Amino acid sequence: MNKLNFDKLNNAIESMPIFGAVSRVATKSGIEVYVVGGYVRDRLLDIGNEQDEADFTVIGDGPAFAAEVAAEIRVKNVSYFKNFGTAKFDFQNTPYEFVGARRESYSVESRKPSVEKGVFIDDIRRRDFTINTLAVSLNEPGRGNLADLFNGIADLEKGVIRTPLKPDETFSDDPLRILRAIRFAAKLNFKIEDETWEGIKKNVARLEIISQERITDEFLKILSLPKPSVGLKLLHESGAFTFFFPEISLLAGIEQRKEYHHKDVFLHTLEVVDNISAVTENVWLRFAALVHDIAKPNTKKFVEGTGWTFHGHEELGARMMKRIFRKMKLPLHELPYVEKLVRLHLRPIALVDEEVTDSAIRRLVVNAGENLDDLISLCRADITSKNPSKVRRYLSNYEKVMLRVKEVEEKDKLREFQSPVRGEEIMKVCGIPPGRMVGVIKTQIEEAILDGIIPNEYDAAYEYFLKIKNRIMNN
Ligand code: CTP
Repeated sequence: MNKLNFDKLNNAIESMPIFGAVSRVATKSGIEVYVVGGYVRDRLLDIGNEQDEADFTVIGDGPAFAAEVAAEIRVKNVSYFKNFGTAKFDFQNTPYEFVGARRESYSVESRKPSVEKGVFIDDIRRRDFTINTLAVSLNEPGRGNLADLFNGIADLEKGVIRTPLKPDETFSDDPLRILRAIRFAAKLNFKIEDETWEGIKKNVARLEIISQERITDEFLKILSLPKPSVGLKLLHESGAFTFFFPEISLLAGIEQRKEYHHKDVFLHTLEVVDNISAVTENVWLRFAALVHDIAKPNTKKFVEGTGWTFHGHEELGARMMKRIFRKMKLPLHELPYVEKLVRLHLRPIALVDEEVTDSAIRRLVVNAGENLDDLISLCRADITSKNPSKVRRYLSNYEKVMLRVKEVEEKDKLREFQSPVRGEEIMKVCGIPPGRMVGVIKTQIEEAILDGIIPNEYDAAYEYFLKIKNRIMNN
């Protein structure tokens, strides 16, 4: 049972200047107004804070009412969406939205929904979940009175996500609510009530009509929660992943070698995502954890005497990223980072051997560049063995690799590595114009440094450059 904090809610309604202003305008004009939804829910659960954004339901003209409140508190910029009967403004750095209550009805002749001015219950019943239907009156007398038409209080106390109407009706109004149900369940640690869950599974294909942007937005919110596995599991079990991220659902049931990993790749992946989420809020590092083994189903092979292998899954996984980023409309400037982490996620473990040369370590440092620390965090998160002595050994292996990295880095300051002899100078000395040849010469100098043939210093690099330039140009 959750203990609800009614004092928090009452104090906020009494003390926040915005509610004072809304209340004055509402009382003066005689228009009914309520603060509704997430603001009420979160105060009762005592999460977030009273400066959070809030939504108002106006039983009347929402935009006209917002204009009066804005005048009252001297807010100049109000955005009006007259077609939707809504208006928004920022006050004291917080966004507030006013919505005129509406009732959607179907006219017999046209079958097109026509929007009429509605009454309070019409607005409330069209909301997503009972816990989001709670509304607090701002009219005097009675400011602070709580309207609970769908047993939202009981569901908040019990920790239950439930639709106010028949699930089919609520979900067909807006199928994105399927993902919202999962997000709220995962964020608040609530259970999705059985009939609602059946409704989710039944309507999941309706996600097809939702724009990719809205789906991706919800998905990234779920991935940003403290323990994303809870939501990711529900996305899988509901069938939602099959619609917007089928590659993830394909991970389930891919058996790994028994003596190596006991879980299927999906369950392993969930653990890796939770592990990384305990140490970072960077959603792209979390995303990389989610997709690090994404190509295992495509590379799975049974080798006699060895068992299942997934040869090359890191490279194929990295190559799959572009298509996935495009399809999911993820920000393309994050693509190289995710590709890099997926491509390199096995590399550090391959460098544990004492015999590994400085040059192999240098290559890791240069390839990972500024993301080396994130890569190592991912590798550490990838350890999901339940055997504590193995976990200790694997972790200490990465510490050893990082010690080698430090040694080599100190020796030759590599992270922002490039040839100490710059392109300009190569062109001048060789008398060549900008072009491919400059790049070839530069790369050869860089390779010589990475292989330890010369130190990462200007004089040595210049001397080496003079030595190789004619051979390269005459080739
Ligand atoms: N709502 C809804 N269906 C949606 C989105 C929103 O019924 N698809 C309703 C809910 O009553 C919700 C309110 O609109 O409480 C405000 O929506 P929003 O600001 O998106 O959600 P919050 O509940 O405030 O929660 P969060 O900010 O965590 O998304």
